[in-house]
This record gives sequence, structure tokens and C-alpha cells, in this order.
Amino acid sequence: MAFYVTTPIYYVNDAPHLGHAYSTIGADILARHHRQRGEDVFFLTGTDEHGEPVALAAEREGVSPKELADRNAKRFEDLMPRINASNDFFIRTSDEQHKRRVQEVLQRVFDNGHVYKGVYEGWYCPRCADFKTEQELGPGNTCLIHHIPLQREREDNWFFELSAFQEPLERLYRDRPDLVAPRTRYNEALSFITGGLTDVSLSRSQISWGVEVPWDSNQVFYVWFDALLNYYTALSFARPGEDLTEKFWPASFHILGKDILKFHAVFWPAILMAAGLEVPRRLFIHGWLLLDGEKMSKSLGNVLDPFEVMDRFGTDALRFYCFREVAFGQDGSISTAGFESRYEAELANEYGNLASRTLAMITRYRDGRIPDVAVDPRLAPDFDGLAEEVCELLDRAEITQALDRIWERVRRLNRYVEEQAPWKLAKDQARSAELDVALRSLAEGLRVITVLLHPYLPQTCNRLLSAMSQGNLSERPHEAGVRALSLDRAHFGDHPGGVPVEKLEQLFPKIP
Ligand code: MSP
Repeated sequence: MAFYVTTPIYYVNDAPHLGHAYSTIGADILARHHRQRGEDVFFLTGTDEHGEPVALAAEREGVSPKELADRNAKRFEDLMPRINASNDFFIRTSDEQHKRRVQEVLQRVFDNGHVYKGVYEGWYCPRCADFKTEQELGPGNTCLIHHIPLQREREDNWFFELSAFQEPLERLYRDRPDLVAPRTRYNEALSFITGGLTDVSLSRSQISWGVEVPWDSNQVFYVWFDALLNYYTALSFARPGEDLTEKFWPASFHILGKDILKFHAVFWPAILMAAGLEVPRRLFIHGWLLLDGEKMSKSLGNVLDPFEVMDRFGTDALRFYCFREVAFGQDGSISTAGFESRYEAELANEYGNLASRTLAMITRYRDGRIPDVAVDPRLAPDFDGLAEEVCELLDRAEITQALDRIWERVRRLNRYVEEQAPWKLAKDQARSAELDVALRSLAEGLRVITVLLHPYLPQTCNRLLSAMSQGNLSERPHEAGVRALSLDRAHFGDHPGGVPVEKLEQLFPKIP
């Protein structure tokens, strides 16, 4: 089974902020989960380097667009290991191999008769690099996203015959009700389509920072088409000497924010159809992380620096918080206070303490070896079907809901500790068998939730599973095929007792 997941590629006119980390971590959780299912996974992220936003930012800084792109692409590339993203490749659209492949595909669109020359006249936002329709105008012809005045543009462009794809797109949406999720975004995209599609500019004549149109050297492709095609082009050169297109196209999942829905849910399938290529299987549209009630964005000046957050709380805490606090797919507010309270109440107390207490009790009462007895039949039903439920939810990219289900079991185990009170059982020789069962069941429950939590908290879970004799996982960044992490074994009672455990430092220490 092949699983191909992508993030949007990030504009290099900005420094990375939490919004970018968010899309990436979401995709990473899916990639890691599918590796646990033994699938052949390809996870792509990268940078969107052409077009007006980058050219304008470079001009403001007095450097060439390429210099700016090189400098900022590096910051995004460096973000990936910091947030523990397990991407298999990092694409940059200024790469010659990408550019050649874009030209090939769009030449096919031209050859198939879907491109013509025309005059574009209308409103344009240089920050969105987007031509706005009448419905997308803010008061006084402003951009609804950036709150800046739109520019009136008039230029000779090559046009893509989007209107010809109205009917094929409607059919696609009818035939594939799970193409776009959540449902509200599916409805939004479909109503954009049924509202009537007009042709769109495929090229720009007034900027030169882009991929040259092969049949007209005075024009470059409109940056959105160049950018969208990264999902397809990367497969042809990501692995030297190998073309992965056959194996991984069409993509299993594109993860993206709601602000770029139209491009991905309307333009993208249309251009693929025009080129005679298969359309992606699924798109998952997430909401915005809000700070002070507004979308976090560099241009609004209200960004939370992911590096700072990770320095204080650690990478796993950031990964956890973003998906626990805000339901993936919806907008939601985040705050430093929110970080602190979830860190303490949930990561440090509910999970971290459960882990250190369990291992400490096994060390103290059973010489550091998990008792080799059967698990508690009263606890087992609470874990029945959990791994399957998590798989089903993550098949739909319902990352927060899956985490909720796992967390219910973290809480269940905490209640079990209180109910069994192993420290009392330890005082009574006659209850030694009960203590064996309690410790074995706690260890087994902890192992199961840790395997399931692994995509969310990879570093922490590696440490914990290593301390539970599940192998030295930290040395395997990609974890593919590692048996201890396999979801086949994420069932309560699957792993035998009798194995040694080590004591563990706090997984989530107090924040200074
Ligand atoms: N370059 C385009 C994407 C091209 S994909 C073919 C772009 N880049 S971006 O850098 O502006 O944004 C990339 C992603 O970051 C989007 O999915 C966007 O929604 C996400 N986020 C940026 N700010 C965000 C928040 N405040 N909250 C959540 N995600 C947001 O668009």
C-alpha cells in the first residue's frame, strides 16, 4: 500500500511561524501513522519561491529574488527537523527539475487545447498572488485576508479554460463525496463551482521571477499553477535515479489551510484533468490558529514563534498542544497560558506521571520486571477496538478526534491506578497476585497508548518505549517497519509480560 501526503509549500517571503508548523505537523502525524500501518509512505513539504510576493519582498530588501529565496528556504528547511517532521523530501520550486516538469505538464494543457490568449482586467492582491472575483472584494476594493487595497490590473495573459471544467468538476464532486473534508469545505468548494466558473490567467507578463512559458518567452506561469504542480513534479526527482510518480500518484492526502481552498479544490483538479492526469484522492482543509481573534500571519504582525515555544516547552509539547487545543479542521484560539495549562495538566500530570509512576512501581515492587501474568479482564474491554477506531479517524485526517480517543484511555489508566492502589497491595503479601495483575495491566495499557500516541509525540514515545524494552527507537528517525511501533501490536494484551523496564526521568519536566 502506498500513502502519499503533502503540506502546502510555504512562501519564502516570510519567516516560518506557527501556522506553517501547524500544516506540517498535521501531515507528519498522518505520515507517521501510516508508516505504523506498514504502508509505503512518501511525505512531501517544501517552499513556494516564485511570484510577486517574493519578488516584492526581495525588492524591499534590495536583494535578488533568488538570494531571498535561498536565505528563507533554508529557514523552512531547518524548521522540519526542529518540529520533528519526517518528510521524505523538501521541494523548492526554483529547482530546475521542478521547472522543467511544470513546463512539460502545462505544455500538455496547451496542446490539449485548454489555453488561449486574452486580456486580463480586474482586481489583484499582490500578497495573495490572487486575482479576486467580485464576490471576494472587501469594502473599498480591499483584500479580505490582508486588508490592503487591491490593484487594478490589465495585461495580456494566457488563459486557462477553467469554465470548460465546470461540468467535469461537478461530476467529480458528486462521485467523490470524500474528496474534500470537512464537509463544510466540500460544500464551499462545490458552491464556488456551481456558482459558475470563469477562465483564469495562466501566466503573467509583468513579472519575470517564475517559470517561463515554453511557447511564449515573454511570460512566466502564474505562480499558483507552478506551485500546485509541486505535488506532482517532486515525485519525478525526489529520489535520484528513480521516478516515484507511478508508485505514489495520485496523492492520498493534501493537507492545507482554508485560505487556499479555491486553488486546491477547484483550480488544481481542473488543471490535472486538462493535462490528462489523475486528481488527488483527498484534501483535508484545516482552520486557522488564531491569536487575539485574528489569523496569525506575518503581515498582521501577530505571530507566535514556534522556535521560542519549542525552546520552552519542547517539540512534542508543541505538536500535542496544536492538535489538542484546536479541533483539526476548525478555527481556534491559542495562547501561551493555554500552552502552560495543557502542558502541566495533561502532558506532565496525566501522561508523564502515569509513565514514571508505573515504571517506578514495577522497579520498586517487582525488581524492574513486568510481571508475566495475564492482563486484568476488567480493564481489557476499555481498550477493545481502540487501534481500529484511531485508524478509522485518521483515515479521514480527524487528528484531534483520534487524539481524544487515545487520551480517554490515558485517563482510564489513571483511574485504574487509583482504583487498584498498588502501594496498598504491596503491603499485603496475600494480595501479591493482584499486584502482579495491576502492574502488568498498567504497563500494557501504557505501552498501547504510547504506540498510538507515537505519531503525535515521537520523541517522548521513543524514550518511553525504549525504557519498556521495546528497542532503541530513538536511533531510527523514520521508524518504518519497526515492529514495536506496528499498529498490529497496539492491542491490550498483545505483548507478553516478563520483560524488564528502566526507571525514567520526568517525560515532561516542570517549566522553568
Ligand atoms: N504558497 C502558498 C501555498 C501553495 S501550495 C501549492 C501559501 N503559502 S503560505 O506560506 O502562505 O501558507 C501555507 C500554509 O500555512 C497554508 O495552509 C495556511 O493556511 C497555513 N497557515 C498560515 N497561517 C496560518 C494560521 N495562522 N493558522 C493555521 N494555518 C495557517 O499559501
